Amino acid sequence: MKVLIFDTAQQAADALADKLIKQVLSHPTCTLGLATGGTANPVYDKLVRTHLAGDISFKGVRTFNLDEYVALPIAHPLSYHTYMAEHLFEPCDFQTENTHIPNGNAPDLAKEARRYENAITNCGGIDCQFLGIGENGHIGFNEPTSSLASLTRVKTLAPSTVEANSRYFETPEDVPRLCITMGIATILRAAEIALLAVGKRKSEAVRNMIEGPLAAMCPASALQLHQHAEIYLDSEAASRLELLDYYKSVHPCGHAPPL
Ligand code: F6R
Repeated sequence: MKVLIFDTAQQAADALADKLIKQVLSHPTCTLGLATGGTANPVYDKLVRTHLAGDISFKGVRTFNLDEYVALPIAHPLSYHTYMAEHLFEPCDFQTENTHIPNGNAPDLAKEARRYENAITNCGGIDCQFLGIGENGHIGFNEPTSSLASLTRVKTLAPSTVEANSRYFETPEDVPRLCITMGIATILRAAEIALLAVGKRKSEAVRNMIEGPLAAMCPASALQLHQHAEIYLDSEAASRLELLDYYKSVHPCGHAPPL
């Protein structure tokens, strides 16, 4: 794991956006795995700004989102379809046929999950997977005790995730209880992974992910098994790391040290 610690949340988000920009500029027909959520907003803001400045095109890029709620209409303001359209796809030049998000309204959800998993495989897999992390250590909606070998499937949100996501909905009762999510094994198949975590409330999950045991209780700890996982943190999210000084000395301010 490459642990990159930045002074501010904005710097960490900018650095992760720069990684995605570099990926697209060097491989304009690459496949990106995408996350939604508050943490992802400044990353997508930078991608949109770069596109509007005329410095990047996403016409050839394929995308697969991590997850979607079940039974929330696609056009609902809090669906991940709406989130992606507003924050990234519509302001940029993505081709609709190249963007993929699980269909949480499919009549047969298990079949839809299998279709989604196969679609990722059939397009040659994900080159770079962007992730956030839940306060309980989830990645995608792989909640604690998810199988580390899991593929795309229907999952029930953990009560702590329902509570965390209720800040976006009017009341906790409005938060959907089911979702379709890529599995942990699906995520681990990506050639590269870039995870962003900011703020104090993520610091315990971040410590468990990086320094804790490999354990289904912290699904993000599965990233310890990946050969090319980069973790972008601000100082608050990094604050509980035991080897903080070590990570900072290896990559001062998130950069490679001068040789
Ligand atoms: C969303 C997703 C989740 C979020 C996580 C953090 O597609 O996969 O794992 O990344 O819940 O959400 P925020 O950024 O809202 O704290």
